[in-house]
Amino acid sequence: MKEKIDSFLAEVAAFEASNPTDIENFRIRFAGRKGILNDLFEDFKQIPNDQKKVMGQELNKLKTAVQEKIDALQSATSTGSASKDPSLDMTRPTGDWGVGTRHPLSTVRREILEIFERIGFTVADGPEIEDDWHVFSGLNFPPEHPARDMQDTFFIEKDPDMVLRTHTSSVQVRAMETRKPPLRIVMPGRVFRNEAISSRAHCQFHQIEGLYIDEGVSFADMKQTLLYFAQEFFGKAKIRLRPSYFPFTEPSAEMDVYWGLNSEADYRITKGTGWLEILGCGMVDPNVLSASGIDPEKYSGFAFGMGIERITMLRYQIDDLRMYFENDVRFLKQFDQLV
Ligand code: PHE
Repeated sequence: MKEKIDSFLAEVAAFEASNPTDIENFRIRFAGRKGILNDLFEDFKQIPNDQKKVMGQELNKLKTAVQEKIDALQSATSTGSASKDPSLDMTRPTGDWGVGTRHPLSTVRREILEIFERIGFTVADGPEIEDDWHVFSGLNFPPEHPARDMQDTFFIEKDPDMVLRTHTSSVQVRAMETRKPPLRIVMPGRVFRNEAISSRAHCQFHQIEGLYIDEGVSFADMKQTLLYFAQEFFGKAKIRLRPSYFPFTEPSAEMDVYWGLNSEADYRITKGTGWLEILGCGMVDPNVLSASGIDPEKYSGFAFGMGIERITMLRYQIDDLRMYFENDVRFLKQFDQLV
């Protein structure tokens, strides 16, 4: 029996095969149900007890050798012929996965929200398809106000009361209706305007709205909050507020930051003034408060709204709006490091 095992061991060691059928035949010959190993284990039962220990070890040696041979041959063929090419290292780590980058608008939106979150604002949300009340009437827009004009607003054909919101101020109204002051929220979102002024104009863009309502909130609180934002976001220390008009705020203002005139580009983007308009703001009109069920005798507040596309353009000196929509990776990749 010892000789038999030795000759099988030699045969196993010498066996080579690369096609799966040969390997399978080898497996059946040695390890199959009626294979050599089973026969040997049958014979093993007959041998004298004093030989069992030594013979058992020999038999197990053969069994292990058979299994190792099968494993080795199978793994060599499953990695394919490439594994036989010494110039290919199949264990090398892969290269660039080509992971995408965050869109600059998303990065800037996130950054603006974070600045306000640091001073206690929380994020609120509202629908893009809105009724007239939340977009206009609840915000003190008189019925004949030009912003309601067909030129600006996309109306929903089946229901003349429904529009695509033209600004995120609609979310203010929803928040004031459903929550009690103190309110301190920022509201990012997509807005729609039918602006066919130039071929570059786009009918949808993004805004971030802010609202702060409590007892005794003043214009000075608004100015300080917005100065903080300008300093955090642009690193610019100087702002100015110019009188303006919005139906839902009184008084209303537009905020500029002092950008400086240090380079030719500064002259171009500030039109030679050194100042850049950033956002609209104002004290919430008492009519707006009472329309949403908040007592204007007790509470006051301020609101502001800014366009994310515009802020992003200023921040990174992007001068063509179309860059945002084309999703050209060469453009997007430049914002890799911002993620
Ligand atoms: N909703 C205004 C706009 O779209 C911006 C704004 C928001 C102004 C809040 C004042 C207060 O232009």
